[in-house]
Amino acid sequence: MKMTRLIAAGLAALGLSAAAGAAPGDYKAPEHHHWHHSGPFGTYDRAAVQRGYQIYVEVCASCHSMDLLSFRNLGERGGPFEDERFPNANDNPLVMQLAASYTRQWDGEVDDAGDPRIRPGIPADTFPAPYENEQIARGSNNGALPPDLSVMTRARHHGTDYVRSLMLGYTDAPEGVEMGPGQYYNEYFGPISMAPQLVDGLIEYADGTEATQEQMAEDIAVFLTWAADPHQDIRKQTGLMVLLFLFVLTILVYLAYRQIWANVKH
Ligand code: HEC
Repeated sequence: MKMTRLIAAGLAALGLSAAAGAAPGDYKAPEHHHWHHSGPFGTYDRAAVQRGYQIYVEVCASCHSMDLLSFRNLGERGGPFEDERFPNANDNPLVMQLAASYTRQWDGEVDDAGDPRIRPGIPADTFPAPYENEQIARGSNNGALPPDLSVMTRARHHGTDYVRSLMLGYTDAPEGVEMGPGQYYNEYFGPISMAPQLVDGLIEYADGTEATQEQMAEDIAVFLTWAADPHQDIRKQTGLMVLLFLFVLTILVYLAYRQIWANVKH
């Protein structure tokens, strides 16, 4: 299945259409959507990243890990819960509170009764994985493994568009497509072992935004994009400063050139 998709993606990239008919793997390219963070000057929509975080925690985190993300990342520069008063994200009370809402087991430590010793989470912890190991994860998902979402938007072509499309792409399976047990049909993936996740009003947004399916699909896509590339805003800002600097330097060099050669006949 993976291989078919890879080959299909390769063919699509070459502008060739993939194998005939509605075979598994013959999926649609993600729908193009305009994002606040696209383009050379675009920055993340902070409110959308926050809402997307809420969706991840309330919906996706029960199956998908985000191993590369730690709580303090949320409060770092450019993060959804950045706060000027706390340049060190470890001191950010909101981040501390979010981290502490999960408990952790001290590595290998047990209490007097021999039970694992539990501590509250701290900002340096990474997000807890929903399953203890791959076998349990597969066992709970009809044999399919919910992939880690830390860098998902980078692992797929047009990743932000892809996540949004995938969330909205559930339809009835076209005729002739063989569906495995516990599979659903998604126009952007084919038969998939993940049930449709987002329905209107599924969650209640902390900021009062109406939680339509479309809105949630957008927000989770933005959150996952931020998570996969949290320093994008800073990078773009630096790029802009460099360009400005070069522009000013060009003018100075030109003026110097005029000055130096001013009295030379030519
Ligand atoms: C009940 C478990 C479950 C929940 C909840 C869940 N997923 Fe999944 N997800 C899966 C499984 C299982 C797969 C693997 C599907 C497959 O390979 O057929 C998957 C696959 C994916 C993929 C990868 C598709 C690809 O191209 O490989 C993405 C992206 C994804 N899920 C996003 C999400 C998001 C975003 C949410 C929250 C809104 C979410 N999932 C909630 C079980 C879940």
